[in-house]
Amino acid sequence: MRTVVAVYSATGNSLYLAKLIPDADVHLIDEFMNGTYTMPEDTDRLALVFPANAFSVPYPMRRFISEYLGNRDNSSLGYVYAFITCAGIPLYTAYDAARCLEDIGVVLSYAASFRFPDTYLPLKKNAPTEEETEKTLEKTMSLIKAAIDDTENEKIKLPHRLPGWRIIRKASPAVAGENKKLSVSKRCTGCGVCAAICPMENISIENGKAVINSNCIKCFACYHRCPVNAIEYGKAQGQYKGLVKTEELRRR
Ligand SMILES: Cc1cc2nc3c(=O)[nH]c(=O)nc-3n(C[C@H](O)[C@H](O)[C@H](O)COP(=O)(O)O)c2cc1C
Ligand code: SF4
Ligand code: SF4
Repeated sequence: MRTVVAVYSATGNSLYLAKLIPDADVHLIDEFMNGTYTMPEDTDRLALVFPANAFSVPYPMRRFISEYLGNRDNSSLGYVYAFITCAGIPLYTAYDAARCLEDIGVVLSYAASFRFPDTYLPLKKNAPTEEETEKTLEKTMSLIKAAIDDTENEKIKLPHRLPGWRIIRKASPAVAGENKKLSVSKRCTGCGVCAAICPMENISIENGKAVINSNCIKCFACYHRCPVNAIEYGKAQGQYKGLVKTEELRRR
């Protein structure tokens, strides 16, 4: 039996969750996409771990499903499941994942969502504090353990379709664009960490300073992980250093 975990994580929550799955090969989807990891042909269990983004599967995970999984022979996969991190309102995300997989002929057998600290600044305004993080995790941990038990026993739990799904599906392949409130301050040292962790390759280092381009999915990885807090978002305060090391989130 071989379990592979493919994880998309902007700010670390989903990677933390992925690493809790026992006896599994855990890899960022970027490793599959850039050829540094190839999923073994005899993989029979696949876990997709990712955050809810706008009630849907985030763009990088959609791309992984259609471009990587969609171009391989998945006939050995007997049990495919999704673990979703969210701020408490995942809504259509699990159902969306099932449909994305269905599009490439793969059946999702189980999905579960777990509340984690909310790293999305437009709604939350400030980064989650350590105290908030601790409280949220305390409540979530037992649910994670139960879901891990379920998936070790290959239980079936299918996501429900909720009203409004069609509208969300149209809007969901979400949408990269300019992030007008995100800016780089004078504190920037040009270290390149933000460029290495941006899931959209949307940051370049020019003349020793980070430049944010216009293909942003508002994941806020750059904001939270800049070592000198040089990336600003309006009046947002604090950074979420989260549950894994920044090094682990490097994609290039
Ligand atoms: C662009 C964006 C959209 C989000 N949308 C949702 C959402 O629809 N529902 C929800 O509960 N949480 C939402 N969140 C919160 C994240 O799902 C949550 O913080 C997640 O654990 C982050 O995972 P990561 O650290 O692995 O990137 C959103 C976060 C971002 C950055
Ligand atoms: S991580 Fe921060 S200091 Fe480093 S290049 Fe990016 S903005 Fe500048
Ligand atoms: S530039 Fe946008 S997509 Fe890239 S890390 Fe920052 S917030 Fe995320």
